[in-house]
Order: sequence, then C-alpha cells, then structure tokens
Amino acid sequence: MMMTLTTFQWIVRVAGILALILGLLFWTGDAVNLVPVHMLLGTLTVLALWLVAVTGSQMGAPMGLVVGAGILGLLVLGLGFSQQSLVPGSGHWVVQVVHLLLGMAAIASSEAIGGRVRRAQTVATA
Ligand code: HEM
Repeated sequence: MMMTLTTFQWIVRVAGILALILGLLFWTGDAVNLVPVHMLLGTLTVLALWLVAVTGSQMGAPMGLVVGAGILGLLVLGLGFSQQSLVPGSGHWVVQVVHLLLGMAAIASSEAIGGRVRRAQTVATA
C-alpha cells in the first residue's frame, strides 16, 4: 500500500510542478498556446491528490487532512475551469494569485498526507 501511495504522490509532484512551471510561463506571456496542456496537468494533479487522500485515509492519515485535500482539489478544479472568465480587467491578478496559491496548496497537501502516514508507520515499527 505504501508503494501505491508513493506512486500517486510522485504523480502529484511531477504533474503539479510541470503545471506550475507552465503557469508561471503564462504569467510572463510565454507558452500561452500550452494552456490545454496546463489544464490537463492540473487536472491530473488533482486526481492524483484525491488518490493520495483515499489511500492515505486507509493508512491512517488524519481525517482533517484527507477532507482538506478533497475540498482543495474541488477548489483548484472549480477555479481552474472558470479562471479565464473570472473578474476580467484590472482585478484579474487576484484570481491569478488565488489560483497559484491553491495549486501550490494542492501539491503541499499531498506531501502533508504522505509525511503523516510515513511518520505514523515509523513510530509503529519503532
Ligand atoms: C497544481 C495545480 C496548478 C497550478 C500550480 C497552476 C498554476 C497556474 C499559474 C501560476 C498560472 C498563471 C497565472 C494565472 O493566470 O493564474 C495558471 C494559469 C491558468 N491555469 Fe493553472 N494551475 C494549476 C491547475 C490548474 C487546473 C486544474 C486548471 C484547469 C483545469 C488550470 C487552468 C488554468 C488556466 C485556464 C490558466 C490561465 C491561462 C491564461 O492566462 O490564459 N490550472 N495556472
């Protein structure tokens, strides 16, 4: 089961960091033709985060972290798919910053669940 959790965690890491790099490129006005790739990577990140949460819950991760990851995933997807039409104009930067923070929180949430499960297992075997 630890192997499954680690695999899902790596998907979150790789897809999440690639989505982040692409997103930062959009911010500087580059690679905007790759928005669909970014959306795919972001969606993959969220799906893998949910799998980390489900697997983590079966391995004793705190319910608060599991539920938090579920909600965070919904927020990332919800904001991501409506991103381009939300608050057009000079205030759009707020949406962009919230989107960036939610995306990074999704990656961090996966690490938090993995870390808690590993620490719990280390204590149990000590
Ligand atoms: C790990 C998850 C994610 C990270 C770290 C991330 C990061 C970013 C960043 C830094 C930007 C550039 C600033 C901005 O315009 O907000 C961006 C843009 C964008 N992201 Fe994401 N994102 C993630 C997930 C998603 C998802 C799941 C979707 C949709 C399914 C999505 C859709 C978009 C769209 C449509 C843009 C705007 C591109 C444009 O300016 O035309 N993102 N993202």
